[in-house]
Amino acid sequence: MSDVLRQLRQQKTSNDARPRLMERYAAFLPVTGSTPNVSLGEGYTPLVHARNLGRLIGVPLLHLKVEGMNPTGSFKDRGMVVAVAKALEAGSRAIICASTGNTAASAAAYGASVGLEVVVVLPKGQIAAGKLLQAQMAGARVIALDGNFDDALRVVRDLVDDTDPHDRPVTLVNSVNPHRLAGQKTAAFEVCEDLGGAPDYVALPVGNAGNISAYWQGFTDYLDTGLVETRPAMLGFQAAGAAPLVTGRRVDDPQTVATAIRIGNPASADKAIRARDESGGVIEAVTDDEILAAYRDVARYEGIFCEPASAASLAGVSKMAANGRIDPGATIVCVLTGQGLKDPDTAHSVATPPLQAAASADAVRAVLDW
Ligand code: F0G
Repeated sequence: MSDVLRQLRQQKTSNDARPRLMERYAAFLPVTGSTPNVSLGEGYTPLVHARNLGRLIGVPLLHLKVEGMNPTGSFKDRGMVVAVAKALEAGSRAIICASTGNTAASAAAYGASVGLEVVVVLPKGQIAAGKLLQAQMAGARVIALDGNFDDALRVVRDLVDDTDPHDRPVTLVNSVNPHRLAGQKTAAFEVCEDLGGAPDYVALPVGNAGNISAYWQGFTDYLDTGLVETRPAMLGFQAAGAAPLVTGRRVDDPQTVATAIRIGNPASADKAIRARDESGGVIEAVTDDEILAAYRDVARYEGIFCEPASAASLAGVSKMAANGRIDPGATIVCVLTGQGLKDPDTAHSVATPPLQAAASADAVRAVLDW
């Protein structure tokens, strides 16, 4: 392991206050002397060795990168902190995004923390309850669009293109904003530091295709600066009803229980395909049933409650391992992109309902069959 990697690792396990993500990785980020300090404590998320699931699936070195531990409960915070800092640096007064929920929650929170006006445009009726409430509570103006995510992204891009920046200085904070991807690549750095090198495989859910592209850039940065000697194969998983990168065609009416990745025309499609091909990886589809099974299993066997879209990574790895397509000795990282509490409705649909009992030990003993 290189000295720098060792140092970063030690810094992480010390008791010092958490250095800001943007400070820690400034050398790899578009940070200048006039970039304001913005932070809600993003990054430094746990990498958990999933011993139980790993054994069950037949890949004992399975790890989970728990991105739901970010301030607003998803990986979006890594990129949003950079995008918001750069928006402030450029003199913006407002930020706007289209979202399936998590980008909106993150934009709303970071915008609130620095006093920016925030507008989020969301596909009506398709947003998990917790995410919508996060945006509302942070005081964002929420627009429920009569259309899907792809429509919403088209609308906000058109809106920003047609807005005079002198009249209304507004920044688009979707992942088409390069500062978002720059921030998101820091998760790859943390994975390398925790493992002492790059893993063999990294698996992610793919929606608008920004995150898989960002991770690949992160691993490439660490390789280029000599901090690691290898890069992982990137495994991307889309939901079967919303899998444009698998079929090679945009999907006009994407459908999946994993609402975060209900996207039919990914903005970063080209970058994701390049990450797949340069890394020797794959982008494949997993069914809603496979996603829900993985979603339940990761909570039951590892105690980690992620949102449905996140479980697509694990569903994909389980399937590949079952088909003998992953070396059992490989080090694998599944990225769990968001926190399960955001989507109580989907959890209700798979969780065991509470047992009912009167207020006595005997009544509880009876329902427990003890
Ligand atoms: N997982 C979660 C929990 C997400 O919220 C998203 C995307 C993804 C995976 C896919 O990442 O788009 O970079 O390929 N959510 C966006 C949003 C679209 O608006 O919150 P991607």
